[in-house]
Amino acid sequence: MNTNLSFTAPSQVETDCLVVVVLDHGDKDKPAAIVDCPDASVREAAKDVIANAEVTGKIFETTLLHRPPGLKAKRLLLLGGGKAKKFSAAELRKLAGAAVRTLKGKSVRSFAITVPESGGSAAESVRAVVEGAFVGDFDPDYYKSDRKDQKIDSVTIVARGDQAALEQALNVSRIVGESQTFTRDLVNEPSNRMTPTMMAERAQKMAAEVGLKCEVYGADKIKELKMGAFWGVAQGSDEPPALIVLRYEPAGAPEKPHLGLVGKGITFDTGGISIKPADGMEKMKYDMAGGATMIGVMRAIALLKPKVKVTAIVCATENMPSGKAQKPGDVQIAMSGKSIEIINTDAEGRLVLADGLCYARQLGCTHIVDAATLTGAVVVALGYVNAGIFASDDQMYDRFAQANKQAGEKMWRLPLDDEYTEIIKSNIADIVNSGGRWGGAVSAAMFLKEFAEDTPWIHLDIAGTAWMEDAKPWIAKGPSGIAVRSLIEFVQGWAS
Ligand code: BES
Ligand code: MN
Ligand code: ZN
Repeated sequence: MNTNLSFTAPSQVETDCLVVVVLDHGDKDKPAAIVDCPDASVREAAKDVIANAEVTGKIFETTLLHRPPGLKAKRLLLLGGGKAKKFSAAELRKLAGAAVRTLKGKSVRSFAITVPESGGSAAESVRAVVEGAFVGDFDPDYYKSDRKDQKIDSVTIVARGDQAALEQALNVSRIVGESQTFTRDLVNEPSNRMTPTMMAERAQKMAAEVGLKCEVYGADKIKELKMGAFWGVAQGSDEPPALIVLRYEPAGAPEKPHLGLVGKGITFDTGGISIKPADGMEKMKYDMAGGATMIGVMRAIALLKPKVKVTAIVCATENMPSGKAQKPGDVQIAMSGKSIEIINTDAEGRLVLADGLCYARQLGCTHIVDAATLTGAVVVALGYVNAGIFASDDQMYDRFAQANKQAGEKMWRLPLDDEYTEIIKSNIADIVNSGGRWGGAVSAAMFLKEFAEDTPWIHLDIAGTAWMEDAKPWIAKGPSGIAVRSLIEFVQGWAS
């Protein structure tokens, strides 16, 4: 998808479709739809449909007018943005996605969208539009014989303001949008087409393209590093595991901070010997979403070039039952030396991450973030709306929360009180890998904390949010790319 800026008056833009946002400035009893565009000709073209209340400005309401009088555009799409008072960059991002999804279904391949005056600065709005357009452009129907592949070829963003600043915003958001799509492409692949080896190959190919260092290690190195927790999961599968390390070390960056990004890369989670029920098991192909997130983030970082050291570690393996698989009751010794009693082989994500976190510390990371589709319990707690955030350090949390807000991704902080350590005590080893049902998202995070030790650390549980259960006006059903934008923003916030 090409993206470009235009400073032409909206009514003078020659395009297959001009998209404008309509906001509701009224109150409960009396809606008052107003086109958010300073161009009088555009307002005039929308006058009748607003006057007869066909257009109310309700969020995601779409009205398509053909040959709008007074405009050079062939069509005018009026896109409801909801209450004017509540309108922000977060709504605008979704609206841009909705515009893309509405128009691509109508065989429109290129369009122009005017940046509303409300909601935020012009640069913020350009970012929101471009990022939202990329989100909307993704469809997961790769393997359909009659795939329509209705991608948008080009989007023109019609804006007003400082050209250099807006060009900059456009470039950044293009990189962010493309990187998020990169992640979603990886997550979308089924496990037979995204084995740990294939995931590593994708990372290597990407790294070569953008100029990142990428190392991929197999079983030998995993054993040599004494990653007993990671290997305990990997040992049950015929597919070889992959420890993927991506390094971004820009010239002139200080030694500290050194950010570590650790991702869960379970390319398929059967549950292992503690096998999952058949119903819905097919979804466990997305259990590598945390790893794919980190690979996508590293792509963006390599292109955006912030002056900060970043290392990503993805622990990729299948979780399978077999004659070689670990069994409930087994004890594994993690890389850090801690012994783990395996209560449930389906709690495998925390095992691979335990060694991933330890390795990040060994490589010198001063601050670590992990992302993982870790627990069904986080879905019980927060549903499909918010991802769970756990943070061992309030200062680091504040930085992350700010980035998260900027990125417009929904996440909610959950606790890490010392009282919860009780749940993961073992009779025969240092800890158990499953604290049972109650507070399951927290006990999983407490387990990880044992391996992050005193390094400031944030854990993102994206089990409920990495996959859209239903299509929304702005996004297809399937991989969401959650956390990619927040993490890119977070890393950039550390640049010196
Ligand atoms: N990959 C799952 C978590 C998951 C659940 C991801 C639903 C996406 C959607 C994880 O490995 C898992 O199986 N967790 C168990 C832990 C339990 C055995 C302590 C769970 O949540 O049931
Ligand atoms: Mn599992
Ligand atoms: Zn899992």
